[in-house]
Formats: sequence, structure tokens, C-alpha cells
Amino acid sequence: MAQTWTPNSWRQKPIQQVPDYPDLAALETVEARLAKYPPLVFAGEARRLKSALANVAEGRGFLLQGGDCAESFAEHGADTIRDFFRAFLQMAVVLTFGAQQPVVKVGRIAGQFAKPRSSSVEKQGDVTLPSYRGDIINGIEFTEEARLPNPERQIMAYRQSAATLNLLRAFAMGGYANLENVHQWMLGFVKDSPQAERYRKLADRISETMDFMKAIGITSENHPSLRETDFFTSHEALLLGYEQALTRVDSTSGDWYATSGHMIWIGDRTRQPDHAHVEYCRGIKNPIGLKCGPSMTADGLLELIDILNAANEAGRLTLICRFGHDKVAEHLPRLIRAVEREGKKVVWSCDPMHGNTITLNNYKTRPFERILSEVESFFQIHRAEGTHPGGIHIEMTGNDVTECTGGARALSGDDLADRYHTHCDPRLNADQALELAFLLAERMKGGRDEKKMVVNG
Ligand code: PEP
Ligand code: CO
Repeated sequence: MAQTWTPNSWRQKPIQQVPDYPDLAALETVEARLAKYPPLVFAGEARRLKSALANVAEGRGFLLQGGDCAESFAEHGADTIRDFFRAFLQMAVVLTFGAQQPVVKVGRIAGQFAKPRSSSVEKQGDVTLPSYRGDIINGIEFTEEARLPNPERQIMAYRQSAATLNLLRAFAMGGYANLENVHQWMLGFVKDSPQAERYRKLADRISETMDFMKAIGITSENHPSLRETDFFTSHEALLLGYEQALTRVDSTSGDWYATSGHMIWIGDRTRQPDHAHVEYCRGIKNPIGLKCGPSMTADGLLELIDILNAANEAGRLTLICRFGHDKVAEHLPRLIRAVEREGKKVVWSCDPMHGNTITLNNYKTRPFERILSEVESFFQIHRAEGTHPGGIHIEMTGNDVTECTGGARALSGDDLADRYHTHCDPRLNADQALELAFLLAERMKGGRDEKKMVVNG
């Protein structure tokens, strides 16, 4: 792997999950246009995220990463972005209180358009068409025309990402993220939840803390950190032609950065060490994520860590574990032990979504209890191994969809048909996402109390 890296060296490697573009000249023209467009994010921002993640790797922070499985052109709108951001901030406040640590906020947004698929074709009746691969590649409608990969969609995805990011930056810095607002929204959720009693204790303690801060003169007027927040973007770097076009040299350091998002990750299906996706990611300096499913071996993981984080830099690499509620106990400990034995610095994050997908009434869904159970096991295993459970990675939306079953409102299989809107995998709705945050915050607090008892006892 000592060969020279360039933004296009991935093109010499074997590659999985590539769309079959019918017109390669048109694809090249689009990539050349994109290469001239302004970067969406800046190297300095990616470095700031990396240093926040370095703190997480060292046990002094918690990563909250979440958003759509696949962003869509049809759902693009100010309300969708606002509702997502709002639900996400509420989760972050609850988790900050639970963890008593800074929460690093990273959306799966403003670039999360390309999807790996288990089959390159989809069959309906007698008709076989190319699979839908995300709005940046083709359309979801089951027609020949829609399913044909169209490079112009990359321009649309770029423009949607720019507009989304613009609104997110305004929300993060312009007062919408004010802690007092977020707290009020959270109280509204608690009041209306069927589990209100259970959540009230935690909510009351957050309220008391805020009243205390106000009493001693810490307000959003004199403390910008109470009305502004750092919010970062991320997506799976699957469509490498698009990523290459947005790969730029940072003039201050001379290093290459992906400027399509602050953090990018490698999916579980495209993490072969000698293939194109790993090759591309090894050369850019952004923080990167690596999805680890049940087929990841300890040696395979160490090999990937050496390629992707040769300098063993804290904050560079986040391992996003997605085993399934019934498999996490079998796979996570062996990976943690290998990483610890070799002294590798990583952030351990739990994706409790992708190993817990089932089919019910012909819908892909995920039972809330299994999602919660995988995260709980993740925490317990880290506690037992003496390592830091650094974060969670979830698929969620701010909208009131019915895609995952369970939760306080007990969505059933029969409810799925009501508002099943996802373009790919089922997401937690705003209530389910916040509920997950409350349940985790309770556990985190419990874990700290336990630790104190051990220390004092
Ligand atoms: C995803 O995050 O949407 C995804 C496809 O995940 P994985 O690569 O873990 O299957
Ligand atoms: Co998904």
C-alpha cells in the first residue's frame, strides 16, 4: 500500500457497487463540471471535527451521528431539514446530560444520496430493471427510464447538498440552536409522551441545571456556546467519481480533503482492503468512518486500520459497528480486544439499525426493542472491556413517519402502511429517536453511578 495516492488512484483498483452509466462521455463532462464547483465544506472544519473526535477516542466525548438512510430529491424542503435538525438537537441535549460530556453532532445529511444494493437488479413480476441506487444515480420509480443511471443527477445532488448545508449553517449559528429553545421543545415531547412519567425525572434535572445557570448569570446572551452549536455533515463515500471531483488540496497544509462533507464513511459492502473505496479514503485527511458487520475479522480490521490510519491519529477513524442485537455479543468483544492489544486509537460507535432489519407485512422495518437492545449490549460490552462506548449512528427523520415498529407509542406492523416514506431503509421517527436518547441517557447515568459506587465502595 505504499504506492502513491492521488485523487484518482482508486480508478486502478477493483470496485464494487458501480452504476452502469450508459453514456460515459456525459459522465466525464459532469465530473469535469463538478470539479470546478465550490467546495461544500472546508478543510479547517474537517480538522475541527477530527479534533472533537480525537477527544471522543480518548474517552472525553460522545458522537451522535444520524439522519436519513437516503436523502431524496422529492423530500427536499426547509421543513424537512428544520424538523430533522430540531429532533437531532433534542437528542444531543438529552445525551449531553446523560453522558456529562460534549456531544459531537454529525448529520447523515447534505450528501447522503448514494446507496449500495444487495442485488444490481430488481424484479417485479416479469419485469427486471436495474436496482435503485439513490437519487444521485437513478430514480426510484420502477420504470426503465427512471432506473437508467443519469449523471445530471450528480449536479442536482450537489446543489441540494449546498442548499441544505446553507440552511443548517444558519440554524446552527443563527439562534435556532439556542439551548433554551431546545429545552422547551424537549419538555413538549416529555409532556405528550405515553412514557412522560419515566422521562420527567431526567427532564426536571435538566430544567434545574438550566435555572441554576441562569441564576449565576450564564445566559445565551452572554455565552455564545448556549445559542450556537457545531454541526457537521457526513455520508457514505460510495460514488467515487463524484467524491473525486470534490477532492481538493487545502492551501494551508497542502493536504487533500474530501469537500463533499466533513466526515465520510466506507460501507460494509465496499471495505475490501485492496479495492477502490479503501484506496480513495486512505489518501484524504478528513475523519472517516468504517462500517463493521459480522463478517469483519480481527485481522481484517487491523489491516484496514493500518491502511486507513497509518499514523494512528486519534479522531481519524470511527468504527461504526452494526452486528444486530443477537450478534453483537459474539462479534464486538473480539474486535475490541484486537484493537486494544495493538494500541490503535479509534472511536467506537454503534449503528443499531443495519443489523436489525426484518420484513413485516411486506415492509422492511426495524423493531425499536432490538435497536435499543443492540445499543445496550454495546454499552455493557465496552464497560466490561474497559473501553469507551464512543457514540451511536442511527437512521432517523424529524418527520412523523411509521417505518420502525415499537417505541412508546407502540407502532405495530399494521401501522407501517400509514406513513412509510423512506427511499431506502426504515428510520426512527422524531419521537422514537428522542425516546432512544432518553433511554440511553438513563443508562449512561446509571453506569456512572455504578462506577462511583465501585470507586467509593
Ligand atoms: C447505510 O448506512 O445506509 C448502509 C448501507 O450501511 P452498511 O454499509 O452498514 O450496510
Ligand atoms: Co441504511
